[in-house]
Amino acid sequence: MCGIFAYLNYCVPCTRKEIFETLVKGLQRLEYRGYDSAGIAVDGDKNTTTEDINNNKIVLIKKKGKVKALDEELYKIDCMDLEVELDTHFGMAHTRWATHGEPSALNSHPQRSDKNNEFVVIHNGIITNYKELKKYLNSKGYEFESETDTEVIPKLIKYVYDNREREDLSFSTLVERVIQQLEGAFALMFKSCYFPGEAVATRRGSPLLIGVRSKYELSAEHIPIQYNTAMFKEGVQEKNSHNRPDISTAVNSTEDGKAVEYYFASDASAIIEHTNKVIYLEDDDIAAVVGGKLSLHRLNRLAGEDPVRAIQTLQMELQEIMKGNFEAFMQKEIFEQPESVFNTMRGRICFDTNKVILGGLKDHLKEIKRCRRLIMIGCGTSFHAAVATRQVLEELTELPVMVELASDFLDRNTPVFRDDVCFYISQSGETADTLMALRYCKDRGALTVGVTNTVGSSISRDTDCGVHINAGPEIGVASTKAYTSQFVALIMFGLIMSEDRISLQARRLEIINGLRILPELIKKVLTLDKNIKSIADELYEQRSLLVMGRGFNYATCLEGALKIKEIPYMHSEGILAGELKHGPLALIDKHMPVIMIIMRDACYTKCQNALQQVTARSGRPIILCCQDDPEVSKNAYKTIELPQTVDCLQGILSVIPLQLLSFHLAVLRGYDVDCPRNLAKSVTVE
Ligand code: F6R
Repeated sequence: MCGIFAYLNYCVPCTRKEIFETLVKGLQRLEYRGYDSAGIAVDGDKNTTTEDINNNKIVLIKKKGKVKALDEELYKIDCMDLEVELDTHFGMAHTRWATHGEPSALNSHPQRSDKNNEFVVIHNGIITNYKELKKYLNSKGYEFESETDTEVIPKLIKYVYDNREREDLSFSTLVERVIQQLEGAFALMFKSCYFPGEAVATRRGSPLLIGVRSKYELSAEHIPIQYNTAMFKEGVQEKNSHNRPDISTAVNSTEDGKAVEYYFASDASAIIEHTNKVIYLEDDDIAAVVGGKLSLHRLNRLAGEDPVRAIQTLQMELQEIMKGNFEAFMQKEIFEQPESVFNTMRGRICFDTNKVILGGLKDHLKEIKRCRRLIMIGCGTSFHAAVATRQVLEELTELPVMVELASDFLDRNTPVFRDDVCFYISQSGETADTLMALRYCKDRGALTVGVTNTVGSSISRDTDCGVHINAGPEIGVASTKAYTSQFVALIMFGLIMSEDRISLQARRLEIINGLRILPELIKKVLTLDKNIKSIADELYEQRSLLVMGRGFNYATCLEGALKIKEIPYMHSEGILAGELKHGPLALIDKHMPVIMIIMRDACYTKCQNALQQVTARSGRPIILCCQDDPEVSKNAYKTIELPQTVDCLQGILSVIPLQLLSFHLAVLRGYDVDCPRNLAKSVTVE
């Protein structure tokens, strides 16, 4: 996890205050990636005299807590002139989600090589061989001050620098030598007093992109980027439409002295307010800015590898990542669902002809239709989207469908064959467990399909083909709109697979008609917000909450319980109603709050049996049911009545009240909805 943001202004005079503001704003956009501590590295000036600052004048300011705490800290450093204009400057910033070492200023990033801050580094990921490196560096006299794995990196680069003998090594060559020694996952930024105004960035397994802006609004062709011509050439081949949708042109200008700004970030949401021109770094790319020019190098070039990086144009709008009138991103994203599911379907379902097209899959459809089974892999909410659609996918594809939690799938060394088709469902497209499962299946020759919400993410790039769910940026740590869009995207896949099956046409039509009115039905569900808030008022002091259902609505129980755990921090369990009598019934009494999902579908009677079992034990169920169902309502303590839709789409409607409930419970319990403790949005570590 962790968020990386860095800003280099070349011949674009900025005051130190403006630089601070840019860095802090960038971190705030990335705060969902981690928020236990934050820090920045900037150049000092002749007035700077703090303990951290020596002749080199790189200043580190680090603070435990959220970015806001760091922001306040910046203005307490009275030895730095905030109004001084810096013509060229490189500053970098980091927001942390602790993996090694508790949240503290010392463990936060940037980490440094020594007390003089000769080399400083920010890192997202985990260095798995840090103990060996630390031991080696200790033996060479390097003393460590933090508990982090990251600290070996600045120490290692200093070691390489100090032992360079008479070699004249560039900053990027030093970095190259360092990353050759690293194992694990990383996105890294380096700053050094020996290379003022220069920046080096690299990645392996963790995301990193570079935004480019010219002061003079130059076109892409004129942005001064230099490729190492031995390794990069002009001309871009688009491999998969879902992988690289917006490539404009490869840039190979060598113009000198043009004012230019570079933004480095873990994700595009931190960059979009400055520029929509970005370059996504690939694993083992090393990007260096020297004299205002960006050059890219490869650590090890593989045979047959595409040697081109191009500037892409982001489609994202700034307003998509702003909170607007909502109290929290989570709340905004819940209310965006009529629009986000519509966007998932837009241009893909023709409601006149009942034709469904997913452009990112079309070249591989024949192969997919010939496969032996489908394996759906994800974590957390994305896994629940697979559980939610499994039954209808089995029905529409007539194939066995396995649903797998990525970590467990890997732990079991699950057998995978060349004729399997493996789906990787991931909002961020960067989840480490899911990415590792992708690599595992690729090694075994399976066809790989990404279902992601993040263009340019590792999963969307590394899969053979895929579907972009188009839900728009999801900032709230709790996934909401991505779930319903993943759900719709997977159903659309099922509709494509069943296109030629005569026996399935009536079912297809029923589902397509259901999808047509889905955004309207979601709007109706959202009008229940006040009702749900009043239920939250009753429940918020409880310790535990059970959510029970079966069939098409079982995934809603799992997903609802996850939301109730992660935001209001209440114990919650999603229970398959069919399992009630095999254990969970023992929990039921008049004190245990229970939510039951009982919809008019094939499981209706069985769910009513479960309801009887609960009421017979003095349970007081709050029931999510279809409108006008007196049979169910009469046994309910309270009801939340939902519009009825096609059975396999009902889960999209039934999950929304639980998303809202989780939000209201968290607010009532006084928690920060968008920054749940111990969690981060994008889990890029194992
Ligand atoms: C829950 C949540 C997580 C993610 C999981 C996978 O609200 O957000 O459970 O769903 O970490 O993340 P992605 O979908 O980015 O792979």
